[in-house]
Amino acid sequence: MARKGKGRVLVTGVAGFIGSHMAEGLLERGYGVVGIDNLSTGEARNVPKGVRFVKGDVTRDADLARAFAGGLDGVFHIAGCASTIRSFDDPEADLRTNTLGTIRVVMRCVKARVPRLLYASSMTAYGFVDRLPVRAERAATRPVSYYGISKYAAERYALATGERTDLGFGFGVTAFRMFNVYGRRQSLTNPYQGVASIFIGNIQRREPVRIFGDGEQSRDFVHVSDVVDAWIRAFERPAARGRVFNLGSGRSVSINELVRTDIAAFGLDPKTYPIEHHPARPGDQRHMRADIGPARRVLGWRPRVPFRRGMADVIAWAREEAAAAARPRPKRRG
Ligand code: UD1
Repeated sequence: MARKGKGRVLVTGVAGFIGSHMAEGLLERGYGVVGIDNLSTGEARNVPKGVRFVKGDVTRDADLARAFAGGLDGVFHIAGCASTIRSFDDPEADLRTNTLGTIRVVMRCVKARVPRLLYASSMTAYGFVDRLPVRAERAATRPVSYYGISKYAAERYALATGERTDLGFGFGVTAFRMFNVYGRRQSLTNPYQGVASIFIGNIQRREPVRIFGDGEQSRDFVHVSDVVDAWIRAFERPAARGRVFNLGSGRSVSINELVRTDIAAFGLDPKTYPIEHHPARPGDQRHMRADIGPARRVLGWRPRVPFRRGMADVIAWAREEAAAAARPRPKRRG
């Protein structure tokens, strides 16, 4: 049943890593959840029980109409092409999903007078930054990857629509510039998704780890449960309307450090484990660290999962996945 006491929320990208956790968090807090996903990178098994699932694409208006049917109190728009590298290989596909898909979602919200839209923007909106931590509402936005451009354009469409005075209803938009989100269900096999789980997948399969550039670039890793917490707080707080927040942990880790921690977490020796060095990737940001002050103040939020504990949990999950894959499948009864 999708309708529950607290209201009904549509999660786009519900079969993906972040979307599936978001749906779970909403259900746990008593919301009814509708989810849409085209299952291009997401997996049906990720969709939590209790979600009214619509298989569809956010770039197709007819699919969105099905997802919006019955009325909504809010939309959590997470669906997108989440790969900077892919955006260079196929900029049109990136633009279509990330920007056009968002325009379609925004326009559907307007048409259906949905009062709240939360949008998953990205720290790639900043491009190369000269000052850390990077401040969401002050730092310049000069994306250098095509992905960053399409995500930032979409962010502006969403926020600028929320600022329109001609709509005739209060449309509250909030955008989150997500830093490097990690956690269970992030792909262990897709080399185009987040580095935290790429490395864990590599080491678990005893494959060489690949480092692009000198490995001294750094990232701000934030656990997916902290991201879910921030989004739902924002949904419930009128003060979050019209705002853009960074979502990171406020700390950064270098890629070399990440490799060493992961190898050691598997009980292996970082000095002897095979590491390949490759040239830096195009549009690769150097150092990133979020100023999370506004999210703390406005949302009353703080990240709760320390990096080592969060990574240990991903490794435990990766082991469970490997064990499940190795188990003989039970025979179906006739
Ligand atoms: C990532 C996401 C992006 C998201 C952003 C903010 C990907 C591809 N990118 O960008 O969608 O919007 O965070 O949350 O998921 N690296 C290696 N070896 C590898 C893989 C990566 O050295 O095998 C390096 C990369 O060159 C980069 C760093 O690790 O310097 C982080 O890479 P990654 O997690 O892929 O992407 P981001 O660019 O941080």
